[in-house]
Amino acid sequence: MSLILFFLLVFSFSNLEAQALQHTSRDLAKKLYVSLTGTQPSAAELNFLEPKIQAGQKAQAARDIIDQLPPINNGGAFYSVTIKDWATPKFNKQKTTLAPLNDGTATIIGMIRDERPFNTILYQDVMYKATGVTFKGGQLWYFDTVYPVIAGVTPSTLCSGLGLTAGQFKIIYTVPGSAVKACQRTKFTQVQLVAARDIDALYVPHKDLIIETNLVATTNRHYESISEQGLDLSDSKLLVSQSQASKLHTSIAAIAGLMSSRAYGSAYFFAGTNRAPVAYAIEHFLCKDMEEINDTTIEDNRNRRDVDRSPGGSSTLYKNRCVGCHAGMDAMAGAFAYYDYLNGKVTYTPGNVVTKMNHNALFSAGYVTGNDSWINYWRVGQNAALGWSRDVTEGIGATSFGRMLADTEAFHSCMAKQAYEKVCMKKASANEDIARITRLTAAYKNSNFNMKSLFINAAIECLED
Ligand code: HEC
Repeated sequence: MSLILFFLLVFSFSNLEAQALQHTSRDLAKKLYVSLTGTQPSAAELNFLEPKIQAGQKAQAARDIIDQLPPINNGGAFYSVTIKDWATPKFNKQKTTLAPLNDGTATIIGMIRDERPFNTILYQDVMYKATGVTFKGGQLWYFDTVYPVIAGVTPSTLCSGLGLTAGQFKIIYTVPGSAVKACQRTKFTQVQLVAARDIDALYVPHKDLIIETNLVATTNRHYESISEQGLDLSDSKLLVSQSQASKLHTSIAAIAGLMSSRAYGSAYFFAGTNRAPVAYAIEHFLCKDMEEINDTTIEDNRNRRDVDRSPGGSSTLYKNRCVGCHAGMDAMAGAFAYYDYLNGKVTYTPGNVVTKMNHNALFSAGYVTGNDSWINYWRVGQNAALGWSRDVTEGIGATSFGRMLADTEAFHSCMAKQAYEKVCMKKASANEDIARITRLTAAYKNSNFNMKSLFINAAIECLED
Protein backbone atom coordinates (compact mmCIF):
# COMPACT_ATOMS: atom_id res chain seq x y z
CA MET A 1 0.00 0.00 0.00
CA SER A 2 2.69 2.44 1.04
CA LEU A 3 4.64 1.49 -2.06
CA ILE A 4 1.68 2.39 -4.27
CA LEU A 5 1.35 5.68 -2.48
CA PHE A 6 5.04 6.31 -3.04
CA PHE A 7 4.72 5.72 -6.80
CA LEU A 8 1.66 7.88 -6.94
CA LEU A 9 3.55 10.68 -5.25
CA VAL A 10 6.57 10.37 -7.51
CA PHE A 11 4.31 10.35 -10.53
CA SER A 12 2.37 13.42 -9.50
CA PHE A 13 5.54 15.34 -8.61
CA SER A 14 7.24 14.70 -11.92
CA ASN A 15 4.02 15.67 -13.62
CA LEU A 16 3.99 18.97 -11.76
CA GLU A 17 7.58 19.56 -12.65
CA ALA A 18 6.88 18.96 -16.33
CA GLN A 19 4.07 21.47 -16.21
CA ALA A 20 6.28 24.06 -14.53
CA LEU A 21 8.86 23.71 -17.31
CA GLN A 22 6.35 24.27 -20.05
CA HIS A 23 6.79 27.92 -20.98
CA THR A 24 5.27 29.14 -24.19
CA SER A 25 7.52 31.00 -26.60
CA ARG A 26 5.54 34.11 -25.84
CA ASP A 27 6.19 33.73 -22.10
CA LEU A 28 9.87 33.29 -22.77
CA ALA A 29 10.00 36.30 -25.08
CA LYS A 30 8.40 38.37 -22.38
CA LYS A 31 10.72 37.07 -19.69
CA LEU A 32 13.78 37.76 -21.81
CA TYR A 33 12.59 41.29 -22.50
CA VAL A 34 11.91 42.06 -18.85
CA SER A 35 15.15 40.54 -17.63
CA LEU A 36 17.25 42.57 -20.08
CA THR A 37 15.43 45.88 -19.87
CA GLY A 38 13.52 45.99 -16.60
CA THR A 39 10.56 47.17 -18.65
CA GLN A 40 7.46 45.47 -20.06
CA PRO A 41 7.21 44.68 -23.77
CA SER A 42 4.29 45.84 -25.90
CA ALA A 43 2.09 43.34 -27.72
CA ALA A 44 3.70 44.33 -31.04
CA GLU A 45 7.15 43.69 -29.60
CA LEU A 46 6.09 40.27 -28.36
CA ASN A 47 4.62 39.44 -31.76
CA PHE A 48 7.99 40.19 -33.28
CA LEU A 49 10.03 38.24 -30.73
CA GLU A 50 7.84 35.18 -30.28
CA PRO A 51 8.70 33.46 -33.60
CA LYS A 52 12.40 33.99 -32.95
CA ILE A 53 12.16 32.24 -29.62
CA GLN A 54 10.09 29.52 -31.27
CA ALA A 55 12.84 29.04 -33.85
CA GLY A 56 15.43 28.73 -31.09
CA GLN A 57 17.03 32.10 -31.87
CA LYS A 58 17.19 33.29 -28.30
CA ALA A 59 20.48 35.14 -28.60
CA GLN A 60 19.24 36.98 -31.68
CA ALA A 61 16.02 37.91 -29.92
CA ALA A 62 18.06 39.22 -26.98
CA ARG A 63 20.20 41.31 -29.30
CA ASP A 64 17.11 42.73 -30.99
CA ILE A 65 15.75 43.72 -27.58
CA ILE A 66 19.02 45.42 -26.63
CA ASP A 67 19.66 47.07 -29.98
CA GLN A 68 15.97 47.97 -30.39
CA LEU A 69 15.45 46.43 -33.77
CA PRO A 70 12.12 47.86 -35.01
CA PRO A 71 9.37 47.45 -33.88
CA ILE A 72 11.20 47.28 -30.57
CA ASN A 73 11.47 50.70 -28.99
CA ASN A 74 12.30 50.77 -25.32
CA GLY A 75 14.38 53.94 -25.36
CA GLY A 76 17.59 52.00 -24.78
CA ALA A 77 16.29 50.54 -21.52
CA PHE A 78 18.97 47.82 -21.45
CA TYR A 79 21.49 50.64 -20.99
CA SER A 80 19.53 53.22 -19.06
CA VAL A 81 17.86 50.75 -16.68
CA THR A 82 19.73 47.43 -16.48
CA ILE A 83 23.33 48.49 -17.05
CA LYS A 84 22.86 51.80 -15.29
CA ASP A 85 21.49 50.04 -12.19
CA TRP A 86 24.27 47.49 -12.32
CA ALA A 87 27.02 50.09 -12.68
CA THR A 88 25.82 52.83 -10.33
CA PRO A 89 26.60 51.14 -6.96
CA LYS A 90 30.23 50.84 -8.05
CA PHE A 91 30.60 54.60 -7.68
CA ASN A 92 29.30 55.35 -4.20
CA LYS A 93 30.13 53.93 -0.80
CA GLN A 94 26.46 53.43 0.03
CA LYS A 95 26.18 51.16 -3.04
CA THR A 96 22.93 52.77 -4.03
CA THR A 97 21.48 52.49 -7.52
CA LEU A 98 19.63 55.76 -6.91
CA ALA A 99 22.14 58.19 -8.32
CA PRO A 100 22.17 60.01 -11.63
CA LEU A 101 24.36 59.00 -14.51
CA ASN A 102 28.04 59.91 -14.10
CA ASP A 103 31.22 59.58 -16.13
CA GLY A 104 31.90 56.13 -14.67
CA THR A 105 28.47 54.66 -15.37
CA ALA A 106 28.33 56.32 -18.81
CA THR A 107 31.69 54.77 -19.65
CA ILE A 108 30.54 51.32 -18.61
CA ILE A 109 27.42 51.77 -20.73
CA GLY A 110 29.40 52.92 -23.75
CA MET A 111 31.97 50.13 -23.50
CA ILE A 112 29.20 47.53 -23.35
CA ARG A 113 27.13 49.12 -26.10
CA ASP A 114 30.09 49.31 -28.46
CA GLU A 115 31.20 45.80 -27.49
CA ARG A 116 34.71 46.85 -26.57
CA PRO A 117 36.91 44.45 -24.55
CA PHE A 118 35.71 45.02 -21.02
CA ASN A 119 38.95 43.77 -19.48
CA THR A 120 40.54 47.10 -20.45
CA ILE A 121 38.14 49.19 -18.42
CA LEU A 122 40.38 49.57 -15.37
CA TYR A 123 43.33 51.08 -17.21
CA GLN A 124 42.40 52.30 -20.68
CA ASP A 125 42.21 55.99 -21.62
CA VAL A 126 38.49 55.99 -22.21
CA MET A 127 35.44 57.90 -21.08
CA TYR A 128 32.03 58.33 -22.65
CA LYS A 129 30.19 61.60 -22.78
CA ALA A 130 27.66 63.31 -24.96
CA THR A 131 28.85 65.00 -28.08
CA GLY A 132 27.50 68.01 -29.89
CA VAL A 133 28.54 71.59 -30.49
CA THR A 134 29.16 74.41 -28.09
CA PHE A 135 28.83 78.13 -28.58
CA LYS A 136 32.51 78.38 -27.78
CA GLY A 137 35.12 78.46 -30.51
CA GLY A 138 32.66 79.43 -33.23
CA GLN A 139 30.96 76.08 -33.61
CA LEU A 140 27.44 77.30 -33.11
CA TRP A 141 25.42 80.40 -33.97
CA TYR A 142 21.73 81.12 -33.64
CA PHE A 143 19.67 83.65 -35.51
CA ASP A 144 16.22 84.94 -35.95
CA THR A 145 15.67 86.24 -39.44
CA VAL A 146 18.89 88.06 -40.18
CA TYR A 147 21.52 85.90 -41.75
CA PRO A 148 24.88 85.69 -40.06
CA VAL A 149 28.19 86.59 -41.52
CA ILE A 150 30.37 83.50 -41.17
CA ALA A 151 33.62 83.08 -43.01
CA GLY A 152 33.37 80.44 -45.71
CA VAL A 153 29.61 80.06 -45.47
CA THR A 154 26.89 81.28 -47.73
CA PRO A 155 24.09 81.44 -45.21
CA SER A 156 21.30 82.10 -47.63
CA THR A 157 22.07 78.84 -49.43
CA LEU A 158 22.79 76.99 -46.23
CA CYS A 159 19.57 77.99 -44.57
CA SER A 160 17.32 78.05 -47.59
CA GLY A 161 14.11 76.10 -47.39
CA LEU A 162 13.77 76.26 -43.62
CA GLY A 163 10.64 78.33 -43.95
CA LEU A 164 11.16 80.29 -40.79
CA THR A 165 8.63 82.78 -39.66
CA ALA A 166 9.34 85.68 -37.36
CA GLY A 167 10.13 84.60 -33.80
CA GLN A 168 11.43 81.21 -34.87
CA PHE A 169 15.10 80.49 -34.57
CA LYS A 170 17.61 78.68 -36.63
CA ILE A 171 20.95 77.34 -35.62
CA ILE A 172 24.03 77.21 -37.78
CA TYR A 173 26.63 74.82 -36.53
CA THR A 174 29.79 73.10 -37.52
CA VAL A 175 28.93 69.43 -37.98
CA PRO A 176 30.75 67.56 -35.19
CA GLY A 177 33.91 65.93 -36.44
CA SER A 178 34.05 67.89 -39.69
CA ALA A 179 34.44 71.40 -41.03
CA VAL A 180 31.07 71.30 -42.79
CA LYS A 181 28.42 73.74 -41.64
CA ALA A 182 24.75 73.00 -41.40
CA CYS A 183 21.63 74.98 -40.61
CA GLN A 184 18.47 73.84 -38.90
CA ARG A 185 15.40 75.15 -37.25
CA THR A 186 15.40 74.83 -33.47
CA LYS A 187 12.60 74.53 -30.97
CA PHE A 188 14.51 76.72 -28.52
CA THR A 189 13.66 80.33 -27.88
CA GLN A 190 16.16 83.14 -27.96
CA VAL A 191 16.14 83.34 -24.15
CA GLN A 192 16.98 79.66 -23.86
CA LEU A 193 19.73 79.90 -26.44
CA VAL A 194 21.31 82.92 -24.78
CA ALA A 195 21.21 81.12 -21.43
CA ALA A 196 22.79 78.02 -22.97
CA ARG A 197 25.55 80.08 -24.54
CA ASP A 198 26.37 81.72 -21.23
CA ILE A 199 26.92 78.45 -19.33
CA ASP A 200 29.02 76.49 -21.80
CA ALA A 201 26.13 74.22 -22.74
CA LEU A 202 26.28 71.57 -25.40
CA TYR A 203 23.86 71.57 -28.30
CA VAL A 204 23.09 68.20 -29.89
CA PRO A 205 22.02 68.95 -33.47
CA HIS A 206 20.53 65.62 -34.50
CA LYS A 207 18.18 65.71 -31.55
CA ASP A 208 17.77 69.48 -31.28
CA LEU A 209 18.44 69.37 -27.57
CA ILE A 210 20.65 71.12 -25.07
CA ILE A 211 22.77 69.40 -22.43
CA GLU A 212 23.35 71.78 -19.59
CA THR A 213 27.12 71.80 -19.64
CA ASN A 214 29.96 70.33 -21.61
CA LEU A 215 32.29 70.39 -18.62
CA VAL A 216 32.98 67.03 -17.01
CA ALA A 217 36.11 67.44 -14.86
CA THR A 218 34.59 69.70 -12.19
CA THR A 219 30.90 68.85 -12.16
CA ASN A 220 28.51 65.99 -12.81
CA ARG A 221 25.88 68.29 -14.35
CA HIS A 222 26.66 67.07 -17.86
CA TYR A 223 25.58 63.54 -16.93
CA GLU A 224 22.74 64.69 -14.69
CA SER A 225 21.32 66.68 -17.57
CA ILE A 226 21.41 63.53 -19.72
CA SER A 227 19.59 61.60 -16.96
CA GLU A 228 17.03 64.32 -16.37
CA GLN A 229 16.14 64.47 -20.05
CA GLY A 230 15.92 60.68 -20.23
CA LEU A 231 18.17 60.60 -23.28
CA ASP A 232 18.62 57.34 -25.17
CA LEU A 233 22.12 56.12 -24.41
CA SER A 234 21.93 53.50 -27.13
CA ASP A 235 22.26 56.42 -29.57
CA SER A 236 25.86 56.19 -30.75
CA LYS A 237 25.67 59.71 -32.17
CA LEU A 238 24.87 61.05 -28.72
CA LEU A 239 27.04 59.10 -26.28
CA VAL A 240 30.53 58.80 -27.69
CA SER A 241 33.93 57.59 -26.62
CA GLN A 242 36.48 60.25 -25.78
CA SER A 243 39.88 60.47 -24.22
CA GLN A 244 40.24 61.20 -20.51
CA ALA A 245 43.46 62.95 -21.46
CA SER A 246 41.50 65.67 -23.20
CA LYS A 247 38.61 65.98 -20.77
CA LEU A 248 39.64 64.97 -17.26
CA HIS A 249 43.37 64.80 -16.74
CA THR A 250 46.35 66.78 -17.85
CA SER A 251 48.78 63.97 -17.12
CA ILE A 252 48.52 60.76 -19.12
CA ALA A 253 49.98 58.88 -16.14
CA ALA A 254 46.83 59.74 -14.17
CA ILE A 255 44.60 57.68 -16.43
CA ALA A 256 43.40 54.31 -15.16
CA GLY A 257 40.08 53.66 -16.87
CA LEU A 258 37.15 53.80 -14.47
CA MET A 259 39.45 54.29 -11.50
CA SER A 260 40.49 57.75 -12.68
CA SER A 261 36.95 58.83 -13.51
CA ARG A 262 35.49 61.73 -11.62
CA ALA A 263 32.79 59.48 -10.20
CA TYR A 264 35.30 57.01 -8.79
CA GLY A 265 37.32 59.85 -7.30
CA SER A 266 34.30 61.52 -5.74
CA ALA A 267 33.46 58.23 -4.02
CA TYR A 268 36.90 56.93 -3.05
CA PHE A 269 39.55 59.67 -3.26
CA PHE A 270 37.43 62.06 -1.24
CA ALA A 271 38.86 62.43 2.32
CA GLY A 272 39.96 59.06 3.81
CA THR A 273 43.42 57.67 3.21
CA ASN A 274 43.22 56.42 -0.40
CA ARG A 275 42.76 52.86 0.72
CA ALA A 276 39.14 52.94 -0.38
CA PRO A 277 40.00 52.91 -4.12
CA VAL A 278 41.73 49.57 -3.54
CA ALA A 279 39.15 48.04 -1.20
CA TYR A 280 36.20 48.97 -3.39
CA ALA A 281 37.93 47.93 -6.62
CA ILE A 282 38.45 44.49 -5.13
CA GLU A 283 34.87 44.33 -4.01
CA HIS A 284 33.25 45.59 -7.21
CA PHE A 285 35.59 44.10 -9.79
CA LEU A 286 36.91 40.94 -8.12
CA CYS A 287 33.73 40.21 -6.13
CA LYS A 288 35.60 39.86 -2.85
CA ASP A 289 34.93 42.00 0.15
CA MET A 290 37.70 42.79 2.59
CA GLU A 291 36.59 40.16 5.09
CA GLU A 292 36.93 37.47 2.44
CA ILE A 293 40.32 38.59 1.24
CA ASN A 294 41.60 39.09 4.80
CA ASP A 295 44.84 37.11 5.25
CA THR A 296 46.96 37.56 8.38
CA THR A 297 49.83 35.39 7.16
CA ILE A 298 51.45 37.87 4.81
CA GLU A 299 54.17 40.46 5.02
CA ASP A 300 53.12 43.74 6.71
CA ASN A 301 56.11 45.95 5.91
CA ARG A 302 53.99 48.38 3.87
CA ASN A 303 51.50 48.98 6.67
CA ARG A 304 51.36 52.69 7.21
CA ARG A 305 51.97 54.63 10.39
CA ASP A 306 48.29 55.36 11.06
CA VAL A 307 47.51 51.68 11.69
CA ASP A 308 47.90 51.19 15.43
CA ARG A 309 50.26 48.26 16.10
CA SER A 310 48.66 47.61 19.46
CA PRO A 311 45.05 48.70 19.15
CA GLY A 312 43.50 48.91 22.61
CA GLY A 313 46.87 47.83 23.98
CA SER A 314 46.79 44.51 22.12
CA SER A 315 49.50 43.71 19.61
CA THR A 316 47.79 40.35 19.15
CA LEU A 317 44.73 42.11 17.80
CA TYR A 318 46.94 43.92 15.33
CA LYS A 319 48.49 40.66 14.15
CA ASN A 320 45.29 38.64 14.14
CA ARG A 321 43.02 41.25 12.74
CA CYS A 322 44.43 44.49 11.36
CA VAL A 323 47.21 42.85 9.33
CA GLY A 324 44.67 40.71 7.50
CA CYS A 325 43.39 43.61 5.42
CA HIS A 326 46.03 46.25 5.82
CA ALA A 327 49.11 44.24 4.79
CA GLY A 328 47.70 43.60 1.33
CA MET A 329 45.67 46.78 0.98
CA ASP A 330 48.27 49.30 2.19
CA ALA A 331 50.85 47.77 -0.14
CA MET A 332 48.50 48.21 -3.09
CA ALA A 333 47.18 51.64 -2.15
CA GLY A 334 50.52 53.21 -3.00
CA ALA A 335 49.14 53.20 -6.56
CA PHE A 336 46.89 56.11 -5.56
CA ALA A 337 49.53 58.22 -3.77
CA TYR A 338 49.09 61.19 -6.13
CA TYR A 339 45.30 61.28 -6.32
CA ASP A 340 42.84 63.35 -4.39
CA TYR A 341 39.35 64.70 -4.84
CA LEU A 342 39.24 68.41 -4.12
CA ASN A 343 36.63 71.04 -4.98
CA GLY A 344 34.64 68.64 -7.09
CA LYS A 345 37.57 67.45 -9.16
CA VAL A 346 39.97 64.52 -9.22
CA THR A 347 43.46 65.90 -8.76
CA TYR A 348 46.69 64.16 -9.66
CA THR A 349 50.02 65.55 -8.46
CA PRO A 350 52.84 63.42 -9.90
CA GLY A 351 55.82 63.32 -7.55
CA ASN A 352 53.83 64.78 -4.66
CA VAL A 353 52.29 62.26 -2.31
CA VAL A 354 49.00 63.57 -0.93
CA THR A 355 49.22 64.32 2.80
CA LYS A 356 46.44 61.96 3.84
CA MET A 357 48.62 58.99 2.79
CA ASN A 358 51.05 59.75 5.60
CA HIS A 359 48.96 61.42 8.28
CA ASN A 360 48.33 60.22 11.86
CA ALA A 361 51.76 58.78 12.58
CA LEU A 362 50.73 56.56 15.49
CA PHE A 363 53.46 54.06 14.84
CA SER A 364 56.55 55.92 13.71
CA ALA A 365 58.31 52.85 12.30
CA GLY A 366 55.40 52.24 9.93
CA TYR A 367 55.67 52.65 6.17
CA VAL A 368 55.93 56.17 4.81
CA THR A 369 54.60 56.52 1.29
CA GLY A 370 57.23 58.29 -0.77
CA ASN A 371 55.98 57.62 -4.31
CA ASP A 372 53.21 55.75 -6.14
CA SER A 373 54.78 52.30 -6.16
CA TRP A 374 52.63 49.35 -5.16
CA ILE A 375 53.21 45.70 -4.34
CA ASN A 376 50.81 42.78 -4.54
CA TYR A 377 51.35 40.64 -1.43
CA TRP A 378 48.09 38.77 -2.04
CA ARG A 379 49.59 36.75 -4.87
CA VAL A 380 50.52 34.02 -2.40
CA GLY A 381 48.45 32.27 0.24
CA GLN A 382 44.68 32.01 0.06
CA ASN A 383 44.37 34.94 -2.35
CA ALA A 384 46.47 33.24 -5.01
CA ALA A 385 43.08 31.78 -5.91
CA LEU A 386 42.11 35.14 -7.45
CA GLY A 387 44.13 34.02 -10.45
CA TRP A 388 46.64 36.84 -10.85
CA SER A 389 48.45 37.05 -14.13
CA ARG A 390 51.83 35.40 -13.69
CA ASP A 391 54.35 38.13 -14.32
CA VAL A 392 53.06 41.11 -12.35
CA THR A 393 54.01 41.45 -8.68
CA GLU A 394 54.44 45.18 -8.33
CA GLY A 395 54.20 48.39 -10.27
CA ILE A 396 54.11 52.16 -10.38
CA GLY A 397 50.84 54.08 -10.39
CA ALA A 398 47.18 53.26 -10.87
CA THR A 399 47.34 52.36 -14.55
CA SER A 400 49.48 49.29 -13.97
CA PHE A 401 47.49 48.48 -10.84
CA GLY A 402 44.25 48.57 -12.86
CA ARG A 403 45.78 46.41 -15.52
CA MET A 404 46.79 43.83 -12.93
CA LEU A 405 43.26 43.70 -11.49
CA ALA A 406 41.72 43.48 -14.93
CA ASP A 407 43.98 40.57 -15.85
CA THR A 408 42.86 38.34 -12.98
CA GLU A 409 40.61 35.34 -13.38
CA ALA A 410 38.58 36.79 -10.54
CA PHE A 411 37.74 39.89 -12.59
CA HIS A 412 36.32 37.80 -15.44
CA SER A 413 34.30 35.46 -13.25
CA CYS A 414 33.12 38.43 -11.18
CA MET A 415 31.69 40.10 -14.28
CA ALA A 416 29.96 36.83 -15.20
CA LYS A 417 28.54 36.46 -11.70
CA GLN A 418 27.31 40.04 -11.57
CA ALA A 419 25.74 39.85 -15.03
CA TYR A 420 24.02 36.59 -14.12
CA GLU A 421 22.71 37.93 -10.82
CA LYS A 422 21.51 41.10 -12.49
CA VAL A 423 19.49 39.66 -15.35
CA CYS A 424 18.40 36.50 -13.52
CA MET A 425 17.41 38.63 -10.54
CA LYS A 426 18.80 36.31 -7.89
CA LYS A 427 21.91 35.63 -5.85
CA ALA A 428 24.14 33.00 -7.38
CA SER A 429 24.43 30.42 -4.62
CA ALA A 430 23.14 27.05 -5.82
CA ASN A 431 25.49 24.61 -7.52
CA GLU A 432 23.51 25.11 -10.68
CA ASP A 433 24.25 28.85 -10.57
CA ILE A 434 27.96 28.25 -10.05
CA ALA A 435 28.10 25.86 -13.01
CA ARG A 436 26.33 28.41 -15.19
CA ILE A 437 28.70 31.17 -14.15
CA THR A 438 31.68 28.97 -15.00
CA ARG A 439 30.18 28.45 -18.46
CA LEU A 440 29.44 32.16 -18.86
CA THR A 441 32.97 33.11 -17.81
CA ALA A 442 34.50 30.80 -20.41
CA ALA A 443 32.28 32.17 -23.17
CA TYR A 444 33.00 35.74 -22.05
CA LYS A 445 36.75 35.18 -22.27
CA ASN A 446 36.35 33.55 -25.69
CA SER A 447 34.37 36.54 -26.92
CA ASN A 448 37.26 38.90 -26.19
CA PHE A 449 35.50 40.12 -23.06
CA ASN A 450 32.28 41.20 -24.73
CA MET A 451 29.98 42.25 -21.90
CA LYS A 452 26.94 42.62 -24.15
CA SER A 453 27.22 38.97 -25.13
CA LEU A 454 27.79 38.09 -21.50
CA PHE A 455 24.54 39.75 -20.42
CA ILE A 456 22.71 38.05 -23.27
CA ASN A 457 24.11 34.61 -22.42
CA ALA A 458 23.35 35.15 -18.74
CA ALA A 459 19.71 35.98 -19.49
CA ILE A 460 19.43 32.84 -21.62
CA GLU A 461 20.94 30.63 -18.91
CA CYS A 462 18.05 31.25 -16.55
CA LEU A 463 15.35 31.89 -19.15
CA GLU A 464 13.56 28.59 -18.60
CA ASP A 465 13.91 28.44 -14.81
C1 HEC B 1 38.24 43.79 6.96
C2 HEC B 1 39.37 44.59 6.57
C3 HEC B 1 40.02 45.50 7.58
C4 HEC B 1 40.47 45.18 8.81
C5 HEC B 1 40.45 43.83 9.49
C6 HEC B 1 41.01 46.40 9.39
N1 HEC B 1 40.89 47.43 8.49
FE1 HEC B 1 41.53 49.33 8.80
N2 HEC B 1 40.72 49.86 6.98
C7 HEC B 1 40.13 48.98 6.11
C8 HEC B 1 39.67 49.73 4.96
C9 HEC B 1 38.94 49.15 3.74
C10 HEC B 1 40.00 51.07 5.21
C11 HEC B 1 39.69 52.26 4.30
C12 HEC B 1 38.28 52.73 4.61
C13 HEC B 1 37.84 53.92 3.76
O1 HEC B 1 38.63 54.84 3.57
O2 HEC B 1 36.68 53.90 3.37
C14 HEC B 1 40.67 51.11 6.48
C15 HEC B 1 41.14 52.27 7.07
C16 HEC B 1 41.84 52.30 8.26
C17 HEC B 1 42.44 53.47 8.81
C18 HEC B 1 42.37 54.86 8.24
C19 HEC B 1 41.12 55.54 8.72
C20 HEC B 1 41.02 56.95 8.17
O3 HEC B 1 40.20 57.13 7.26
O4 HEC B 1 41.75 57.82 8.63
C21 HEC B 1 43.04 53.10 9.98
C22 HEC B 1 43.80 54.00 10.93
C23 HEC B 1 42.82 51.69 10.13
N3 HEC B 1 42.07 51.23 9.08
C24 HEC B 1 43.25 50.95 11.22
C25 HEC B 1 42.92 49.63 11.44
C26 HEC B 1 43.25 48.90 12.65
C27 HEC B 1 44.01 49.45 13.83
C28 HEC B 1 42.74 47.65 12.49
C29 HEC B 1 42.74 46.52 13.50
C30 HEC B 1 42.06 46.77 14.71
C31 HEC B 1 42.12 47.60 11.18
N4 HEC B 1 42.23 48.83 10.59
C32 HEC B 1 41.53 46.47 10.66
C33 HEC B 1 40.00 47.63 6.23
C34 HEC B 1 40.30 46.92 7.36
